[in-house]
Amino acid sequence: MIVKNKMKKILVTGGTGFIGSHTVVELQQNGCEVIIVDNLFNSSADVLEKIGIITGIIPAFEQFDLADPAPTAGFFSRHSDIDGIIHFAAFKAVGESMSKPLGYYRNNVGSLLNIHEGMKKNGIRDIVFSSSCTVYGQPDILPVTETAPIKPAWSPYGNTKQMCEDILRFTTASLPVRAIALRYFNPIGAHDSALIGELPLGVPNNLVPFITQTAIGLRQCLKVFGNDYDTTDGTAIRDYIHVVDIARAHVVAIERMMDEKGKSPLEVFNLGTGKGFTVLEIIQSFERVSGVKLNYEIVDRRPGDVEKVWADTSLANTELGWKAEKEIDEMMLSAWKWEKALSSNRVNGK
Ligand code: UFG
Repeated sequence: MIVKNKMKKILVTGGTGFIGSHTVVELQQNGCEVIIVDNLFNSSADVLEKIGIITGIIPAFEQFDLADPAPTAGFFSRHSDIDGIIHFAAFKAVGESMSKPLGYYRNNVGSLLNIHEGMKKNGIRDIVFSSSCTVYGQPDILPVTETAPIKPAWSPYGNTKQMCEDILRFTTASLPVRAIALRYFNPIGAHDSALIGELPLGVPNNLVPFITQTAIGLRQCLKVFGNDYDTTDGTAIRDYIHVVDIARAHVVAIERMMDEKGKSPLEVFNLGTGKGFTVLEIIQSFERVSGVKLNYEIVDRRPGDVEKVWADTSLANTELGWKAEKEIDEMMLSAWKWEKALSSNRVNGK
C-alpha cells in the first residue's frame, strides 16, 4: 500500500502582500496547504482570488493583527495542525519608520513575539523569517556574505529586522524552535500571469514601481537620487532579484527545516542574484524591454541610502540548492506587464 505523505499546512503571515502572495502560489504549487493571516493594512483580499486563478486553490484566510496578542492566541487555539510558519507580516517603509518608530517596533517585533507564543502552545518548531540586506548597512566588503558584521541600523525599520534576528538567535537557542532568516536584497517584478504583483499605496518609495508608474503616466518624472557615488556611472548599485525567485527560496527553506536538513537551529541566507546594477542600468533595462523612453532627472542623494550593495549568494546556492534564475530584463518586463495590467483594470473600473 502506498501511504501518501500528509500535506504540510503552512501559516503564511502577510500572505496577501507582495512577497507573501508569490510565496503562497509557490507553496500551493508544491503541494502545501496554506492558511494566510493578514491585517490588510497594506494589501487587499482580492489577491486571494488571484492566487486561486493561478493555482486552482483559494487559500484559507483570516484577517486580524498579529501584533495584537488576543486574536493571535485565539487563532493558534483554533489551528492546532499548523506544521510551519513563514512570517512576512511587517511594516516595511524605511522613511515612514523614521516618523513612526513606536508603531514599527510594536508591529514588527510584537508580532514575532506573539507568533512565538503560538508556536510554544502548539509545538510548532519551524519558522522562516523575512529579513533584509539592510542589516548590513554599507558593507565593507562586496559581495557581502552572511558573516559580515551587522552595522548599526539607519532606521527603525532596519532596526526591527536586526532585533527580530536577535530574538530568533536566542529563542532558537533555548526553546524548541528552529528558524531560517532570509535576507532579501531588492525584490522586484511580478508573477508571469500579471495577476499578482506589488501594490504600493500612494507614491512609491521604491525604484521599480516608480519607474513603471512614470512610464504608464501616473507620475511625471522619476527622480534619480544622486549621480556622484563611487560607481561606474555615479548612481547607486543594488542587487535586484525577481520576487518569484525569492518566493521559491521560502519553499526550499521551510522544507529544509521540516526535512531535518538544517545545520543549526538558526540559519541565515542572503537572497540576491549576486549581481549589482546601477539605477541608470535599471532604467536602460526598462527602456529596452518596454520600448518606452523614461522621463527622469538627476537630483540629490536620498538621505539614508547606501552607495552599493550586492550579495554573495554562495551559501544559499550550496546549502539550499537554490539559485536566482531570472535576469534583469525579465524582471523589468514582468514589472511592466504588471503595471499595464493594473492600468487596464483601472480603465475597466476593476
Ligand atoms: N531610487 C531612485 N529614485 C527613486 C527611488 C529609488 O533613484 O524614486 C534609487 C535609490 O536611491 C536606490 C535605488 O534606487 O539607490 C533602490 O532604491 P529602492 O528604494 O528601490 O530600494 P532600497 O535599496 O533603498 O531599499 C531596499 C528595500 C528596503 C531595505 C533597503 C536596505 O526596499 O526594505 O533596501 O538597503 F531596507
